Amino acid sequence: MLQIANLEVAIGGSRILRGVTLEVPKNSVVCLMGRNGVGKTTTLKSIVGLLKANVGTVTLCGEKLTHSSPEARARAGIGYVPQGREIFPHLTVEENLKIGAIAQGKKLNGNLDRVFTLFPILKEFLPRKGGMLSGGQQQQLAIGRALLTEPKVLILDEPTEGIQPNIIDQIGDTIRLLREEGKMSILLVEQYLDFAKELADIFYIMDRGAVVANGPIAELTDSVVRQHLIV
Ligand SMILES: Nc1ncnc2c1ncn2[C@@H]1O[C@H](COP(=O)(O)OP(=O)(O)OP(=O)(O)O)[C@@H](O)[C@H]1O
Ligand SMILES: [Mg+2]
Repeated sequence: MLQIANLEVAIGGSRILRGVTLEVPKNSVVCLMGRNGVGKTTTLKSIVGLLKANVGTVTLCGEKLTHSSPEARARAGIGYVPQGREIFPHLTVEENLKIGAIAQGKKLNGNLDRVFTLFPILKEFLPRKGGMLSGGQQQQLAIGRALLTEPKVLILDEPTEGIQPNIIDQIGDTIRLLREEGKMSILLVEQYLDFAKELADIFYIMDRGAVVANGPIAELTDSVVRQHLIV
């Protein structure tokens, strides 16, 4: 489905990604892990097109997107929920939800109801300003906004960061449901090990700009965790 091959990215002259290769198969949840500052967000940003890769390729369902704009990648089916959520604080929940899909010229129809089923609080808060919501509610809003663009691959950067446990469970349930529906693949950056182990089919671990371990989630053993993830 989504393939990233040999991605190299430099920011301000320093090499941040040193040849990242990663694959998200159809109908799977892939979890990208690693300590702080190893290049996880940089990897996602170069998949989405917000950072330009010096070397390497990004391919979605056989279509080369390496040189496409972020908008073209979104239209091709890459949905993105950035780290820190990045909703529009001065727009209402309703405007925040609709903005991505409308920018792509997509009809909302029943999809909006689906988002409300997943995250009922958003329906209740439709007229509120996004900035008035709690962190967890903003995360739900950001995920809802991405879902309305009907992505083939949904990319989430640390959706549980700084969020209270009951919302983490709700986000976990949503990811599980999306996987079971079989309509999209999910690429998730996650530091919360239990969450990753519960949800993911496949893991990748990065260190200093490169993938240092990967495999089926069952192979994410304590010794792998000790070696690559514990600070
Ligand atoms: N705009 C930038 N300018 C300079 N250096 C940057 C920039 N963005 C990222 N970096 C550096 O690139 C490296 C990787 O950053 P990145 O945000 O991809 O890490 P991360 O794995 O997502 O970390 P975290 O777990 O803290 O989110 C870090 O050393 C960071 O300091
Ligand atoms: Mg990050």
